[in-house]
Amino acid sequence: MGPWGKRSDMVVHEREPFNAEPPRAALAEQRITPVDAFYSRNHGPVPRIDPARWRLRVDGLVEHPLELGLGELRDRFEEVEAAATLQCAGNRRAGLAAVRAIPGEDPWGPCATGTARWTGARLRDVLAAAGLRPGAAHIAFSAPDVSALAEPPQPYGGSVPVGKALGAEVLLAWAMDGQPLPRAHGAPLRAVVPGWIGARSVKWLTAVTALSEPSDNYFQATSYHLLPAGTDPGRAAPGSGIPLGPIALNCDILRPDDGARLPAGPVRITGYAFAGEDRTVARVDVSLDRGRSWCQAALDEAENPWVWQHWRTTLELPPGETEITARAWDSTGALMPESPAQLWNPKGYANNAWARIRVTAR
Ligand code: MTE
Repeated sequence: MGPWGKRSDMVVHEREPFNAEPPRAALAEQRITPVDAFYSRNHGPVPRIDPARWRLRVDGLVEHPLELGLGELRDRFEEVEAAATLQCAGNRRAGLAAVRAIPGEDPWGPCATGTARWTGARLRDVLAAAGLRPGAAHIAFSAPDVSALAEPPQPYGGSVPVGKALGAEVLLAWAMDGQPLPRAHGAPLRAVVPGWIGARSVKWLTAVTALSEPSDNYFQATSYHLLPAGTDPGRAAPGSGIPLGPIALNCDILRPDDGARLPAGPVRITGYAFAGEDRTVARVDVSLDRGRSWCQAALDEAENPWVWQHWRTTLELPPGETEITARAWDSTGALMPESPAQLWNPKGYANNAWARIRVTAR
């Protein structure tokens, strides 16, 4: 077993803070990602929190500020269990780094994403108990893990607009796949904001604060912004660029592995596709000739709009080297962009270009 209870073949980008994703095969054809294969993305040391002393504050622009222990949270609010996919904004950054270097950022492959069954209370029920005051437009999440990556170093945090926070899908979760949240995934309580970049699903949650503006935390106000290609991120004015929120339509290939050597003949090709905010994947196409011709893959139905959908097809692999390409369309008719060069940005976020792997057949 690897660090933090993860499988031993995780691709570890950093040990401290711990940042790791599973190999492609670990996610293949599994609607729910085993916890030991779920990616882990941390900006600072994983805190150790005594659940007996831990409290959640609900404050800011509310009528009745609350302070809740885990037992009170569980007793007072309806318990909900729902599957949701988390996906990091840096998922598939390696594809952008291949276009042009992205210094200082981990080269995540396609597996900084996973799907769990989360158990918790709806954020909207907790906010209703506190009573939002007029002017409350954003809900901020606070955590105790201090990140040296922030300028100045500060605890991790973020916010979502009230409209999203009040969605029935947004949870304050204490369990993952029926087990208490593991420490690395945010014990004792985390936000789960389905359909939005993973950065907003704040772990080790200590406060939920209603604000008139988005959080001024570094990871909301400065980081996780899409900067224009010509910008030096070290010199960009704080707050510049497009703040990331909803996840863009995306897909990747999970089997075969990139670089695999296979017998020529029929090959089963599988992967995931995810449409993000309130949409579903409508079609996935696979090509063996770099997009000149396409075959339609069989696609799982979405259990709900907040989870990925797996797909599969079997195609005849010719001898020699082949590039396998996959692309997804969503339920609004939108298609993933073809080239990562169109999407390159200095921090390497939100790569949703067509998925490509190379295999060699004999
Ligand atoms: N919450 C805290 N407190 N600290 C963090 O570093 N990382 C965020 C988010 N919540 C982070 C956090 C990011 S960028 C992602 S993608 C998800 O957690 C990853 O969740 P996971 O590690 O449970 O997979």
